Amino acid sequence: MSEKTSEKLTVIALAAGKGTRMKSPLPKVLHPVAGRPMIEKVIQASKQAGAAEVRVIVGHGQALVRQVVEPMGVSCYAQEEQLGTAHAVRCAKPETIEGNVVIMNGDHPLIEGVDVKDFVRIFRDEKCDLAVVTAVVKTPGEFGRIVRNRGELMAIVEAKDASADTLKINEINTGIYIAKASILAEYLPQIKNNNAKKEFYITDLISMCIQDKCKVQAIRSTPKVAVGVNNQAELAKATRLLFKRKAMRLMEEGVLMIDPRTVYVEESVEIGAGTVIYPNVFLRGKTKIGSFTVIESNCFVSDSQVGDSVQLRGGTYLEGAKLHNRVTAGPYARLRPETEIFEEAHVGNFVEMKKVKFGKKSKAGHLTYLGDAEVGEEVNIGCGTITCNYAADKKKYKTKIGNRVFVGSDTQFIAPIEVGDDAVIGSGSTITKNVPAKALAVARGKQFVKENYVPKAAEPESKE
Ligand code: UD1
Ligand code: MG
Repeated sequence: MSEKTSEKLTVIALAAGKGTRMKSPLPKVLHPVAGRPMIEKVIQASKQAGAAEVRVIVGHGQALVRQVVEPMGVSCYAQEEQLGTAHAVRCAKPETIEGNVVIMNGDHPLIEGVDVKDFVRIFRDEKCDLAVVTAVVKTPGEFGRIVRNRGELMAIVEAKDASADTLKINEINTGIYIAKASILAEYLPQIKNNNAKKEFYITDLISMCIQDKCKVQAIRSTPKVAVGVNNQAELAKATRLLFKRKAMRLMEEGVLMIDPRTVYVEESVEIGAGTVIYPNVFLRGKTKIGSFTVIESNCFVSDSQVGDSVQLRGGTYLEGAKLHNRVTAGPYARLRPETEIFEEAHVGNFVEMKKVKFGKKSKAGHLTYLGDAEVGEEVNIGCGTITCNYAADKKKYKTKIGNRVFVGSDTQFIAPIEVGDDAVIGSGSTITKNVPAKALAVARGKQFVKENYVPKAAEPESKE
């Protein structure tokens, strides 16, 4: 074997199990942890650790699992019947692999590339044949126990098969193993299923290889890598830990948080230094936030770009929107996909926009709906303005408003419509015809006044 192939790293991720304890119709490994399916975390960690190939074992709900993992460039191997973790690894055909193999459970979403890299480095440095990653935890519960004799690793015993004494051991199997591919090819077929669950346990590899004088080592890691997800409560815990980790990293990079415990930022989100985040903020997807921006409480931002020195006031909801530098939005603004707000523009409370280009220094201060519109620079949109973009023919039509236009309050634009630069629209107008530049347009009923309209009050009745 050349040096290169002996160094090749393959990851086998186990994801065929049913996840009975999740009590959910979704395959366990597809449950989202901090916004992403948990199997994605395991695959990402594998790639970051330099895996040349990732083989995912699929079984329960495999059509769905394949849809999620195959676009990540991994190959799937079916395990039609879930006969245990050793059987699952055999389904990945280890006899066709060269070099080293990392085996990971698909339900450990807190694992990171650096962890896997570390384990592999130790495995290589110590010239191991097989290694298991362990952790010392307070409540070992259902985990397999690491049995040692005078400190020397002996075996892994599953909780269900353990004696009362063995159950007291608090060093546990994290479910991460590293092995030479040749070891897997040789020993996996020899594993038997004579245990409490009548399953083929991968954990039996440890004692078998030790008996055959292979070099087997326990790599002790942190409890973090032992955080597995077997039920909804553990899923919520994993999510909380991932949000906490992200918040800590952002603070290290100079993001200010008043209370990081209530800030939910998905892994994929980027935030510049000097930005301040108030409690109860949720930032998700491909969101990018600049520097020195302030995000007040109860903002929800999804797949949006927010520039520098932007003010997102409380309760603002952004989805697929782009806000340039020094924009102010909210409180309670809703900016929907394909909306772009240019520098120093202001979008006030109870303003909704969809597919709008809103020019520099323009303002829509209150209670407005703009949809399918282009608004120039330094425009004033009065309170209660509506673009009537949706017509009886069920089609959407555009509104175009030039630069420096003044739109009086309570105006409706019946699209399609265009308003030229510097035009003025009188308050309360329903605009149905294009308005040329610099024109005044007023389209409202004339005021009618009838004096002494209210009849004289009746004479008070005599008490007699
Ligand atoms: C397993 C280990 C245990 C360890 C724990 C860490 C064994 C026998 N036990 O227990 O020592 O402490 O992980 O979390 O390995 N899977 C398949 N096919 C199967 C069975 C399982 O793909 O036939 C997958 C599951 O989808 C899951 C993983 O393997 O991702 C582990 O299976 P699970 O049933 O959760 O094992 P544990 O009881 O947690
Ligand atoms: Mg498990």
